[in-house]
Amino acid sequence: MEKLLIRGQNRLKGSLQIHGAKNSVLPIMAATLLSGNCVIHNCPRLTDVDAACNILSFLGAKNKREGDSILVQEATGDYCCIPDDLMRMMRSSIVFLGAIIAKCGEARISMPGGCELGPRPIDLHLAALEKLGVSIEEDHGYLNCRVKERLHGAKIALPFPSVGATENILIAATLAEGETIIQNAAREPEITDLAAFLIACGAKINLTKDGGLRVEGVKSLHPAEHRVIPDRIAAATYLSCAAATGGDVLLTDVCTEHLSAVLPCFEEMGCQVLTTPDSIRLKSDGPLKPLRYVRTMPYPGFPTDAQSPLMAAACLAEGSSIFVENIFESRYKHVPELQRMGADIKVEGRIAVVHGVRELHSASVRCTDLRGGAAIAAAALAAQGESELLQIEHIDRGYEHFEQNLASIGADIRRLK
Ligand code: UD1
Repeated sequence: MEKLLIRGQNRLKGSLQIHGAKNSVLPIMAATLLSGNCVIHNCPRLTDVDAACNILSFLGAKNKREGDSILVQEATGDYCCIPDDLMRMMRSSIVFLGAIIAKCGEARISMPGGCELGPRPIDLHLAALEKLGVSIEEDHGYLNCRVKERLHGAKIALPFPSVGATENILIAATLAEGETIIQNAAREPEITDLAAFLIACGAKINLTKDGGLRVEGVKSLHPAEHRVIPDRIAAATYLSCAAATGGDVLLTDVCTEHLSAVLPCFEEMGCQVLTTPDSIRLKSDGPLKPLRYVRTMPYPGFPTDAQSPLMAAACLAEGSSIFVENIFESRYKHVPELQRMGADIKVEGRIAVVHGVRELHSASVRCTDLRGGAAIAAAALAAQGESELLQIEHIDRGYEHFEQNLASIGADIRRLK
């Protein structure tokens, strides 16, 4: 088991290039099953991306990495089953379902396992696929999905703008017969990126007047080359680390627009934020001010994935900050770990009240989930003494060269095998 050792209280200073968005790469890789022979640039080196490559290989689509690009070949054969061990390697493997069904007319996948963010149901994915003409049966933990002839377009009104469900519908509907309308579709930048890739492959997708998505089914997709958007959550995480340590950090290769709900929080904390369309510089000196309210919301609201890293910085603010988690039921698992480092946080259901403390201290702490792990690292960077972070495989799912990046801007951080 690997762990990270972080000796805190070094002021982070320097510049970091932000890698491609994990949450874009994964659905785009799934979509390559329909177009074949694609080149995807700006793919971060992450264990979740490796897992997606393994799933593609298993489904007959050979792929290889060249630098930050992944080349995916056309799938040979109609493999339509993802075994349980591969499904469990990546919690978001459900995003392959729509692509497999559209390609093969059937799919057999194991139910995605439990999740560190609480129950993560897939009812919206399945109800939408049924509307597109898929019959679905559960069989001993597996889902057996079958299409009679061809997928057909449908009007789908999502009760909640689920990111994963929107992606599955979007991918499947590109090859359905006729028109599909997705009302209340998720609008995250990663959805727009997936749509851009599908359009480059010949899909017909546009926005409806009320912000939904309209997909006119086509017979087939063709290969394309695509560059993945920057990872806005990695950017928000490094900004939180900079804020927590009184740092001065310049992020390059970002899309500033995608962080429009996040950057005002750092300004509210008293940091100076200087932006261009593709760079963000954050300067933090003097004590941080508290945040009145941070409410997580679907995009363009404040992203749930940035809640925990920002909370780590708020632990050191001069006053009380309030967080309201509206997306996931159980997204405060990092709180007990932050408390071990001296943070004063009270959680009541969806609300967390963070009373700032003067100093955090080192501790042996567990990374509870991907973004929770990043939050714990941010706290350890600001804490007095040397902290030991366990279960860092969560961090490796979403941050490329995490400790090298932080070390390059002055952090005292090393990985022990
Ligand atoms: C994606 C992101 C994740 C992010 C989340 C919200 C990827 C790989 N992951 O996850 O990092 O935190 O969006 O921005 O892109 N829900 C249902 N039924 C469903 C589907 C979802 O009840 O069928 C609920 C979920 O339990 C959750 C909420 O809807 O409470 C949001 O989930 P969703 O938007 O689907 O998130 P993911 O696609 O899983």
